[in-house]
Amino acid sequence: MDQPAHAIDALQWENRRFPPSEAFKDQAHVVGAWMYDDAAIDYEGFWARQAADLISWQQDWHTICDWQLPYVKWFVGGQLNVSENCLDRHVAAGKGDRVAFYWEGEPGDSRVITYSQLLDEVQRFANALKDLGVVAGDRVNIYLPMIPEAAVAMLACARIGAAHSVVFGGFSAQSLTDRINDAQAKVLITADGGYRRGEVFPLKPAADEALAAGTPSIEHVVVVRRGGNDVDMVQGRDHWYHDLVESADPVCPALPMDSEQLLFLLYTSGTTGKPKGIMHTSGGYLTQAAFTHRYVFDLHAESDVYWCTADVGWITGHTYIVYGPLANGATSVIYEGVPNYPANDRLWSIVEKYKVTKFYTAPTAIRTFMKWGAQEPAKHDLTSLQLLGSVGEPINPEAWMWYHEFIGGQRCPIVDTWWQTETGAIMISPLPGATTTKPGSATFALPGIGIEVVDDDGKHVSRGGGYLTLTQPWPSMLRGIWGDPDRYQETYWSRFPGRYFAGDGCKLDDDGYLWLLGRVDDVMNVSGHRISTTEVESALVSHPSVAEAAVVGANDATTGQAIIAYVICRAGLEVDEKVLRDHVAKEIGAIAKPKAIYFTPDLPKTRSGKIMRRLLRDVAEGRNLGDTTTLADASVVNELQRRAVEAPTED
Ligand code: WT7
Repeated sequence: MDQPAHAIDALQWENRRFPPSEAFKDQAHVVGAWMYDDAAIDYEGFWARQAADLISWQQDWHTICDWQLPYVKWFVGGQLNVSENCLDRHVAAGKGDRVAFYWEGEPGDSRVITYSQLLDEVQRFANALKDLGVVAGDRVNIYLPMIPEAAVAMLACARIGAAHSVVFGGFSAQSLTDRINDAQAKVLITADGGYRRGEVFPLKPAADEALAAGTPSIEHVVVVRRGGNDVDMVQGRDHWYHDLVESADPVCPALPMDSEQLLFLLYTSGTTGKPKGIMHTSGGYLTQAAFTHRYVFDLHAESDVYWCTADVGWITGHTYIVYGPLANGATSVIYEGVPNYPANDRLWSIVEKYKVTKFYTAPTAIRTFMKWGAQEPAKHDLTSLQLLGSVGEPINPEAWMWYHEFIGGQRCPIVDTWWQTETGAIMISPLPGATTTKPGSATFALPGIGIEVVDDDGKHVSRGGGYLTLTQPWPSMLRGIWGDPDRYQETYWSRFPGRYFAGDGCKLDDDGYLWLLGRVDDVMNVSGHRISTTEVESALVSHPSVAEAAVVGANDATTGQAIIAYVICRAGLEVDEKVLRDHVAKEIGAIAKPKAIYFTPDLPKTRSGKIMRRLLRDVAEGRNLGDTTTLADASVVNELQRRAVEAPTED
């Protein structure tokens, strides 16, 4: 099995334990094992209680869970409106003046948005979408920077039963075209531009390019003015967001939607070149989003200021910036910028400014903070913090300890949360008032979640390494891959029949703690972003000078994995490394740029012609290769190794 080395090392020596403090337990929602015991008796009943406690329904369900492997429905017959749950009911309960979002943009640029204000804008924009012809069941694409309008757009779709498909603003025009066409979206919501490091980056031109490539389903484009940069507006097709909202009817009733109404599609990379449109529906998704946000972060909505640093373009932003926090009536920070502009202490100045109590970020960010040094957080008063979260990749114990000491002041529990785009919400995590943590372990499955580590033959592993599988359906489970039921069955349900295969390796220690070890398939994890090796390979070979390419994810001290490409040029042709890196950025997006490209006359293949990625990874990571006798031509590898040692890599 392919596993990152640090996690295995950790298991051999990691014995530090951090039980919840008395002070934390005194105010925690869950102390002790009661919730686990409760869920273990009857997981369906457990989830039904969560759905009844945390969500408001306009019509009760008749069946909690209809499980016809691999298809599930939750709260069947139930009706709710997701946006009503996130907005109206809080306003109706007298909490309209509570802050929903503290939005922080460039220094000096900020907005405070209450629940009443958010409700007002969502109703207006929902009506505007209706005026543009959007009806329940339609898909709407969203391609926006990290501005409050992103949340407004998502909630407006939810309000009228249209499914949103958010495409991360860093993805290329080509990626946007593919996602629009796969989803057959009717409307695209974008912005003129966004801000990054004090400068405007244009977004509308990229959207225009995406549409010019051919997106026949798109009827209208809505443009938020953010950057102030000049943009071309196509008469009849393009509309300014502020014009629509201003002239829209302010009242849009939240009509009841089926519990299984499609809430959103979110595209994620798999082991083949084509991204998958992961489908999430309403009742079950919102239930688990609200449940995990409340109990994993021990949320006290009336006093907490919660901040998740993800982008809404990823599942973390969907569930833990928009749906979970708003369903719980929480106050959140949304930040548009980067962590090191104007200076390396930017995030800590925001924590201090808003007195953030709960902070959720990724290991790659934590390792970057470590590099910048403990003097940066020390410049600010971080004593408001009560809990820290981690998500996206395994957190190495050194990073965990640094987070604990220099951000958490040794006082904050850390919740290392394992989940995926497909799981919709957190699946494995400590409950901070109940679980003794170990640095680097995500600890245990949450109440109501069934997991099992199995070996190659699907047999139970009670100690040691294996594959992570999920043994029973959960409310926020993906409902399928948009337009591709065969791939759904094949990707998740065929490797270990009867159970969901997550694609991750996992070890169980003597105390039953789970240690996630990273992907075991051809999916890379770069700075917590999932990128498929095949997708990058396809991008590389689409360049006219490239004949063949092999891509691997190599361990990287900061980004977890780094993309390393081996490229064979077409006979007589050459291409500059930078040109090729930019070509990948244009095809997929900047996040998919290889860190290093090695040009080679040949690639190591087995006698049956399969590229030996494992071996290429060893080369990239500078490991001794051992036995290469199964290779068609061992000299290829020696040559590659020589080049890898000599070539500088780009940061
Ligand atoms: C993959 C899912 C879930 C939001 C962010 C990523 C890895 C995620 C952890 C963690 C170890 C983790 C897994 C998983 N992963 N969280 N706490 N410990 N690995 O979502 O893009 O769908 O990627 O991220 O490998 O399969 P995603």
